[in-house]
Parts: sequence; structure tokens; C-alpha cells
Amino acid sequence: MCGIVGYIGASPAVPYLVGGLEKLEYRGYDSAGIALIDRQGIAVIREKGRIDELKKLLGEEKNESTVGIGHTRWATHGEPCRKNAHPHVSQKGLFALVHNGIIENSEELRQELMAEGYVFSSETDTEVISALAEKYYDGCPVRALMRTAERLVGSYALGVLCRDFPDRILCARKGSPLLLALDERGGLLFSDKVAFEGLREVYRLEDGEFAVLKQDNITFLDAMGRNIDKSPSRLAGDEYDAGKQGYAHFMLKEIDQQPRAFSRTAEAYLQGEDIVFPGFSLSEDQARSLDMIYLVACGSAYNAAAAAQYTLQQIVNLPCRSVIASEFRYTRHYIGKNTLCVFISQSGETADTIAAMELARRQGGRTLSIINVPDSTMAVGSDGVIYTLAGTEIAVATTKAYSAQLAALYLVTAYLGKRRGELSEENYRLFLNHLKGIGAEIKGALALRSRCESLSRIFDGQNDIYFIGRKTDYALAAEGALKMKEISYLHCEAYAAGELKHGTISLIEEGTPVVAVCLRKDILKKTVSNISEVKARGAFVLAVTQERYAPLFSEADEILAIPDLADEELSVPAGAVPLQLLSYYTALRRGCAIDKPRNLAKSVTVE
Ligand code: AGP
Repeated sequence: MCGIVGYIGASPAVPYLVGGLEKLEYRGYDSAGIALIDRQGIAVIREKGRIDELKKLLGEEKNESTVGIGHTRWATHGEPCRKNAHPHVSQKGLFALVHNGIIENSEELRQELMAEGYVFSSETDTEVISALAEKYYDGCPVRALMRTAERLVGSYALGVLCRDFPDRILCARKGSPLLLALDERGGLLFSDKVAFEGLREVYRLEDGEFAVLKQDNITFLDAMGRNIDKSPSRLAGDEYDAGKQGYAHFMLKEIDQQPRAFSRTAEAYLQGEDIVFPGFSLSEDQARSLDMIYLVACGSAYNAAAAAQYTLQQIVNLPCRSVIASEFRYTRHYIGKNTLCVFISQSGETADTIAAMELARRQGGRTLSIINVPDSTMAVGSDGVIYTLAGTEIAVATTKAYSAQLAALYLVTAYLGKRRGELSEENYRLFLNHLKGIGAEIKGALALRSRCESLSRIFDGQNDIYFIGRKTDYALAAEGALKMKEISYLHCEAYAAGELKHGTISLIEEGTPVVAVCLRKDILKKTVSNISEVKARGAFVLAVTQERYAPLFSEADEILAIPDLADEELSVPAGAVPLQLLSYYTALRRGCAIDKPRNLAKSVTVE
């Protein structure tokens, strides 16, 4: 995924473009660049690496321009380097553009254009767009962009400058988010609202739509060039603030925000003892008619789904399956009108999850999306939507959004359990009481911070780390392994504790770190046995459990014990905290770029 910004107004464009890119850097940071229209035409400044590298190239002379576009890249086609950085300029200098998405037929178009004498200067798919715009330009840049869009197969969010029309930025969107705003600053273009602070309302471009952004007005057009009336979405106040509030990293701040993220989400949909989702409802008949529930997501959202699957299946008395979105798309499913397909995503823009959701809809399933970013693509593409209220999450490694996803999934569990008659009034009330207490349990686990900082020494310098557990502890182990991998760059493997002895235990040798997640009494003795098995092969075992069970882990080398939990079926949110902190402090110890780990982006809007 990449970050796109654009500005057109009465002020110098560079400060707005650079400031916006700095806030969008979490979307990708292989390279960055801006394009400005000035008296000489279109000036392009690009650089490999982070925005700070680009800033070194921006002298005062660039401050005369008041219209420009900017881009921060997560490479898909072409290595991260200056020539592949956006913006890309057409051969005669007529068009400069920034792109988020993938052009699937770029090679075919490249061959066609080269046969007509076009000389490409990059390895990117994006450059074919600027080349086509120049090819089709007949004096009307919008027509040229529309004709270009007709040739493109794939996804794109585009910000386009035309040298002959310095009073506007052209925009087009298909499959990747693109938002616009007008305020006292002028006309603003961005792929995520965090790019510009103080936004009060935004316009969301839909697939197949175009826009002409000027300093004080926006024209929206459909694919036929007909004007479209669009109303802006008002932005709710958000807890996101520009700074880290004294934290060294956004990730640590967001770990600490988890009690509020969980509680805010859980309580937002409680009206007394009723669960009310403004964007989703099922009657008792519809709930009782359900034949299957799919939970579909990627990465940490998938790990949340995998944890919730156990609880959901246990309580609603239905077959429930958590499936990785990129796998869901290529598997035979038996989806019908009584199949509930739940798609979980922090960004609401993950291409694999969106594609899976579209497949489920085509097969007649009832789709529900659980997302954290309002007005994201998934919000408008599913039958129902439930927002998590984690606030804007900046660190690429998700924490508070993961917790809030669990809150939403637990609410759905209680909602369906009650409507299906599977939860008695007493058990329903008990479930809700436990749910309301999880924010405090997460807070209690945060007290382990210094212990986790100290224990992070176990992992530094290790080549292989194993996270093991059973049932929800296994799903939690998977999240712990992912966190450690993505920010510490240490190879980790999550393994079902009971499965280890069927092969993988051969990899355990003297000093191999094994994190044994064991928060549940119902599988505790089994996991203790698995600890004995790996200890017998020389492993160094760190047990993550509740205080009440700590004495049972005498064989472990170290124990991280969170305060006792009210309901072990709902142990994942608090249990995640020590795992998040262990990964954070290990990455800190290793000097890793914690908020923006190498090779990653906050949301992967390409397949
Ligand atoms: C989690 O820390 C990662 N950043 C990544 O696995 C992420 O969860 C995944 O890409 C899904 O993103 P989404 O929730 O925005 O769909």
C-alpha cells in the first residue's frame, strides 16, 4: 500500500505535501517523492528511503509552487530506488502522477507503448498510466485520464498534474482508497484522513469515479464524464493526535491505549443489557437459521478471528471457521443465504480480505465487516458493518485495533448466542459482565511492562523462537509470534502445543527459547506436559499464564503471570499484552524501526 497526498491552494504546497507524507509514511516507506507545477512546468523531486531523505532535497526555491502531489511507496513492481519512486512523469513532461494500487496489464500496455516509440524510465506498472495519459491527451486532461482508465486492468487511486492546467489536480479511483477535502487551506487529496489534521468533512471517491480538485471547488464525474453530486462525510472526533504523547514509539502508546480501545468498543454497542449494532442486525429467526459462520481476515486480524472462533463456536452452537482471506478465495465453500461471513480488518482496505468478501457476496452469503477505519472500502462493500473504536492506529504492528476486534467479536458472540437461544439470560448477563471487565484486565497486564523489558534479553540474538499453546492460547501464540517477527526481525514459529511432538520438536536444542502460552485451566496440564517435553531437549521456557496458575510452572525457566482473569474463555485480550511488550522491548533492544518495520506497510491494498 502507498500513501498519496495532493494540495492546491494559496499557500506553498511543499509543507502540506511533506507533512502529509510524514503522516502517511506508515502506509509504505521504500521511497518518496513530490511533483509541483511551477513557472517552468512540472518539477519532480524523488528519493529512495524515508521522507527525511526526500526533505534533504527540498530547497527554499521549491516553495513558490502552490499545487502539487506527493507519494510514499511500498514497492510492488520495481525495486525501491529513485527512478521507481513516484511521481512518474510522462515522456514530454505533460503529466505527473502518483498511484496506489496494481495495474495487472501493465506489461501488455508497456509493450504497446514501446512499439509506438515510448521510452520508459522506470520498472514500475505506474509509468504506463502517465504514458497513456500523454498518448490520449487532446487538450482535455480529464478526457485523457478517462480514456487511460478504460485501458487499465487492476486497481488504482490516482493524483494527476497536467502541465497545461496548473489550477487543478485530477483524481481517479478504482479499488484503492482516495479521499478529498476542501477547507480554509484549499483543496486536499489523500489516501487516509490522518494526512491532514483538523479535517471536518471528507469526500470519498468511489470506484470508477473521477474528480477535478481546485483550490475552492471539486467537480465529481462518472466514467461517462457526467457530473455527480456528492455529499461529504463528517468526521467524528478521533482520539488520534499528531504526537506520541511522550512515548518513544506509537506502538507503545497504542499498547497502553488498549484498555480504552477495548472498553470503548465493547460499551459503544451496549444499551443496558441489549447489544445494538447500528450497522448490523439479525432477527431471532435469521439467527436461528444460520448454518455456518466464517471469520475471514489477514495477519493479526486473522489471529483475532482464530481466537474468537473457539469462543463463538462454543457459545452459539454453530460450525465456525476462521480462514486466512488469501486462502478463502481459492477454496470451495458451501455458502448460502444462511451463512454468515464476517470479515475483520483494521484498515478496511486489505485487498485479500476485500476480494474474499466479494466472493462471499457473489455466493449469496450474508456479509458483515468489522473495521476500524470509517468510510473505508469494506464499510461500503458489506451487508453489515461494525466499527471498532480503537481510534487511529499508526504503528504498523497492530495492538489496540487487534484488542478492539476481539471486543467486537465477543459482542457478536453474545448477540448471536442470545438470539439463537443458546445463552440463558443468566449466562448472557454473566458474559456481558465479564466483557465489561476486560478493559481492567488488560490494564492489569500492562503492569508487566518492566518484567517484559527485562525478559526481552532471552530473545535477542536467537535465530528460532517457538510460541506454543492450545485452543485460544494457540491463537494467542500465533499473534505473539507475528508481533515478534514483524518488529524484531527474529524468526518465530507458533505451534499447537500438542502437535510439537509430531516432528517439530526435533528442532528444539539447548537454549532454544519456547514461549508457552497457558491461560486456560482446561488445557493447563497438557501444556505443562509439553513444557516438560521441550525442557527435556534443552529448551529455555518462558511460561505466560495467570497468577493463580504460576506455581504449576515450576519447570519453566521464567514465568510471566498476568492478574487472574474472570473468564478464561475471554483471556486473549489481556494475554496479548505481555506478548506485545516482549516483542516491543526485544525490537527496542535490537534497534529496530518499531513503528515502521522494514518491508511492511500498515495496510496491504495489493494482492
Ligand atoms: C499486524 O501487526 C500486521 N500489521 C498485519 O498482519 C495486519 O494485521 C494485516 O495486514 C491485516 O491488516 P488489516 O487488519 O488492515 O486488514
